Amino acid sequence: MLAKKATRMANRKKIKEGKTKVLYRGPEPGTLIQYFKDDITAFNNLKKDKIEGRGILNNRISAHIMTKLSECNVPTHFIKRINMREQLVHEVDIIPVEVIVRNIAAGSFAKRYGIEEGTKLPRTIIEYCLKSDELSDPVLSEDYIFSYDLAHPIELDEMYQQALRINDLLTGMFLMINIKLVDFKLEFGRMYNEVTGDLHLLLADEISPDGSRLWDITSDEKLDKDRFRRDLGGIEHAYQEVARRLGILGDDNGKVEVAKPVMNKPLHIRKVNI
Ligand code: C5P
Repeated sequence: MLAKKATRMANRKKIKEGKTKVLYRGPEPGTLIQYFKDDITAFNNLKKDKIEGRGILNNRISAHIMTKLSECNVPTHFIKRINMREQLVHEVDIIPVEVIVRNIAAGSFAKRYGIEEGTKLPRTIIEYCLKSDELSDPVLSEDYIFSYDLAHPIELDEMYQQALRINDLLTGMFLMINIKLVDFKLEFGRMYNEVTGDLHLLLADEISPDGSRLWDITSDEKLDKDRFRRDLGGIEHAYQEVARRLGILGDDNGKVEVAKPVMNKPLHIRKVNI
């Protein structure tokens, strides 16, 4: 049985290998398998390491969060977690615009505007960045996005609305486990219905302590990738602590997360217009 599984895995078609994940062709048309590696990178690959078990934790945390979001009718690419390191997802065309949601000043925002890290922002601020390692993900204006057809105005509006809604849901989810959601990054993808030609926007990629800042509510201890970026140590412990508070640490006893199927209304833009 193990040999069969190993052959099946070796025969899978690799679609793309990123810094921390690998995408393989899925079992059904229009699906992919997203594999979480243990590699961790920062500053666009200048700093790298491998932290044993990190991929497993990110898979579990992201699967849990995506499932909760789907229960609240947020359309995501996530279908189900298959095993400790893999999830089945819908295949989407990733929009090359990263959506950053900020509640508290930190990181590049605090530095750029000279605001003390930890200062609560007057309101949630959404920023857009180009998904480009070579250029270190520069901040984008809406005019740039539309001029270079990175996203249609209807898509960007939908991304903005979804980001605010996801922020509300996640802020509440983390507050309940004594964690402040400081900021996080979202990626969205397009999924076409070949029959109707309709276009749907889905939340894609992952949501984990790799792409968010999570601080303990009383001590402000960092429970996210800043521990690696800033050489604070204890990264495995921090990710485990997030999983523990979410109630998903340890053996899953074969129980895997399955998303509620959610399909948002199609965006009325035709493929040819993008
Ligand atoms: O570095 P910066 O302060 O702009 O990051 C804002 C948030 O977006 C952080 O939570 C960070 O982890 C996330 N981010 C990310 N991937 C990027 C850029 C930022 O996950 N390429």
